[in-house]
Amino acid sequence: MNTATGLTGRVDTTVLEQKVKAMYRDVALDPHGEFHFEMGRALAERLGYAPADLDAIPSEAIDSFAGVGYYFDLAHLKPGETVVDLGSGSGTDSFIAAGKVGKTGTVIGVDMTDEQLAKAERLRAAAGFGNVTYRKGYIEATGLADASCDAVISNGVINLAPDKSKVFREAARLLKPGGRLALADIVTEMQLPEGITCDATLWAACIGGAMQVGDYTSVIEAVGLRVTQVRDNPQYQFISTNAQGASRKYGVKSVSLVATRN
Ligand SMILES: C[S@@+](CC[C@H](N)C(=O)[O-])C[C@H]1O[C@@H](n2cnc3c(N)ncnc32)[C@H](O)[C@@H]1O
Repeated sequence: MNTATGLTGRVDTTVLEQKVKAMYRDVALDPHGEFHFEMGRALAERLGYAPADLDAIPSEAIDSFAGVGYYFDLAHLKPGETVVDLGSGSGTDSFIAAGKVGKTGTVIGVDMTDEQLAKAERLRAAAGFGNVTYRKGYIEATGLADASCDAVISNGVINLAPDKSKVFREAARLLKPGGRLALADIVTEMQLPEGITCDATLWAACIGGAMQVGDYTSVIEAVGLRVTQVRDNPQYQFISTNAQGASRKYGVKSVSLVATRN
């Protein structure tokens, strides 16, 4: 196992960033195009998002929703809290979080893809979500202050990061004592072979970067967070034949989890 990545093999991180940005530019601009993964409102409802919560946010954000699970029931967001959404995409989860923390709360979405940020910001301004801001940045180094938030949330993103321990260290740094990291992500039951983990295209499709679930939770605990709940999301299925094959062979799957900072 590669200790820096927690995965066997190494992906070219420059190529990976370009592929991830290209993939999620398309997700923002052409959500009805062809992807390995499902998107949109039917997916969100199947994963567990309440129709009333979805009705309260911009429908164009939901068109580009590329999350992999529901975790808000684990996050227990409260009015007045500050939330950081790592990999906020076109904004679905940050808008949902905004409804839960209310006008006295704050949500900060961080993403590296310009087209995702531009779409989320356009929708935010048009719908008047005054408690949400978006900033361009990396989930590994957000530039936000230490111990500045009550919850870090993320949906379908951290599997894309070449060094997951960096992301979890950043989440732990951002959280106040007692704060929660609540997320949904793609993991595997078995360690993926190098042929898959070195393939930037499979990585950008949310498969190549998936970490074995026990290793994933160990990395979270290694940065000082305590994982209190992990659950499978069998409602999430890949849609391309390739992705379904890898999913069957290696147990590539979606989980939701919550961890707390001591
Ligand atoms: C699968 S999409 C999920 C977006 C959103 N959470 C949702 O549920 O629709 C992944 C998002 O993470 C962003 N992303 C991936 N790696 C990133 C990184 N290292 N730093 C910042 N953003 C990243 C991509 O630009 C993309 O918008």
